Amino acid sequence: MKEQKATNVVWHDHAVEREKREQLLKQKGVVLWFTGLSGSGKSTVANEVAHKLHEREKLAYILDGDNIRHGLNKDLGFSPEDRKENIRRISEVANLFADAGLITITAFISPYAKDRNFCRELAGEGRFLEIYAKASLETCEKRDPKGMYKKARAGEIKEFTGINAPYEEPENPELITDTDKETVEESAEKVLKKLEELGFI
Ligand code: ADX
Repeated sequence: MKEQKATNVVWHDHAVEREKREQLLKQKGVVLWFTGLSGSGKSTVANEVAHKLHEREKLAYILDGDNIRHGLNKDLGFSPEDRKENIRRISEVANLFADAGLITITAFISPYAKDRNFCRELAGEGRFLEIYAKASLETCEKRDPKGMYKKARAGEIKEFTGINAPYEEPENPELITDTDKETVEESAEKVLKKLEELGFI
């Protein structure tokens, strides 16, 4: 990961700590990291989770691949280096949000295990839940909501995950949402249940 350029900067703590913010919000900050192929349902399930949390008066926020790439990360493409930098920046932002006490939901393909683990380490023990939005390439290609697989197959998009760029499946995710078989509602409920079990809400 990138080295620190600035030398004369000193970390300082703030007067209101995380714990106090969490007491105020009646929840605990966490990063819910969705990973999976394009079209695997990451954003759809993430949105349903955010909706359900909102109904329960819990504060959640979604960081989403397509949106972040319009702003913060608009200078990045899809080479392995750029994807790594994409995930590094998102990891830093997600952890700031989680530190603020929010249930922070990210929805990025994040194809490399090493990059996802960077966020896990940053978040610290128990503050990071990897959720694998599992769907076969066949299913994702059939869904093809943005017509991208078609373009990738036609050679119009280079380095497209699943077609001509790799996807490393999570080895030990905290949760799998099997979007081939489950409904969006069922997948979202599973996530909520996990958050309850672990005492985040
Ligand atoms: S990641 O690999 O760096 O995590 P990210 O989630 O930010 O990817 O962006 C993926 C989205 O960008 C996809 O949903 C798709 O709409 C779009 N996209 C455009 N080109 C590609 C590509 N070559 N590979 C994957 N997704 C792409």
